[in-house]
Amino acid sequence: MPSTLHSEAVASTLNRLLAAEERQDLEAAFADAGIDVAGDFPIELSAADLAERTKDIIMSVSREGGQLLYLFTRAVKARSVVEFGTSFGISTLYLAAAVRDNGGGQVITTELQSDKARRARENFAAAGLGDLIDLRLGDARETLRELPGTVDLLLLDGWPNLRLPILNLVQPRLRPGALVIVDDIDLDIGRDFNQGFLDHINDPANGYLSVRLPVHMGVQMCLKLG
Ligand SMILES: C[S@@+](CC[C@H](N)C(=O)[O-])C[C@H]1O[C@@H](n2cnc3c(N)ncnc32)[C@H](O)[C@@H]1O
Repeated sequence: MPSTLHSEAVASTLNRLLAAEERQDLEAAFADAGIDVAGDFPIELSAADLAERTKDIIMSVSREGGQLLYLFTRAVKARSVVEFGTSFGISTLYLAAAVRDNGGGQVITTELQSDKARRARENFAAAGLGDLIDLRLGDARETLRELPGTVDLLLLDGWPNLRLPILNLVQPRLRPGALVIVDDIDLDIGRDFNQGFLDHINDPANGYLSVRLPVHMGVQMCLKLG
């Protein structure tokens, strides 16, 4: 049975978005936004300020990373998925395609920047997956406070300094055996907030088993124990 990922609507939407991402001159785009792409994550900017400055930049999971999301969402038969950091919705499409093939459910995703959220919604409609996606406009620290039932899979792909606060916010909803997937874990390595996140998930007392996969800029896979 073919995967929803390979349906014409989903494949063409993903191809269009990933091609647009490849055409970007990322260094120039970040420089225009006043951000030194080779430098440290600009922790001095608020989440909203940084989202505003980068509102036209596509910075999604890689194609391989997206396929990994699809694969793991299928493998744990996730029907309840939460995502921190929608952007244009590329990762969300991989997650929602897998939820469709798992028999249906919901992907709750959240984005701070309103233009990006609007464009993500257009992409969800173009892919025919909008019925599975609840996109919450606003700051994840507020928008993810209310979650229905338990969560089977959480993707952390918003600003890296907020990974741990968002994990702790969603953690009471994670079922035993749930997966937490973190994209771009190699970015900002050595910074206190990144080390704090890694220390947290690698401390068995916190109830996770975690391993880094060498995909794109590093994907951290965490299993909720229990
Ligand atoms: C790396 S991009 C996400 C890429 C997306 N997951 C994909 O693969 O297509 C990070 C996104 O998180 C959003 N973001 C950052 N902090 C946020 C917050 N506190 N609440 C909601 N969204 C946030 C940013 O505006 C940005 O669009």
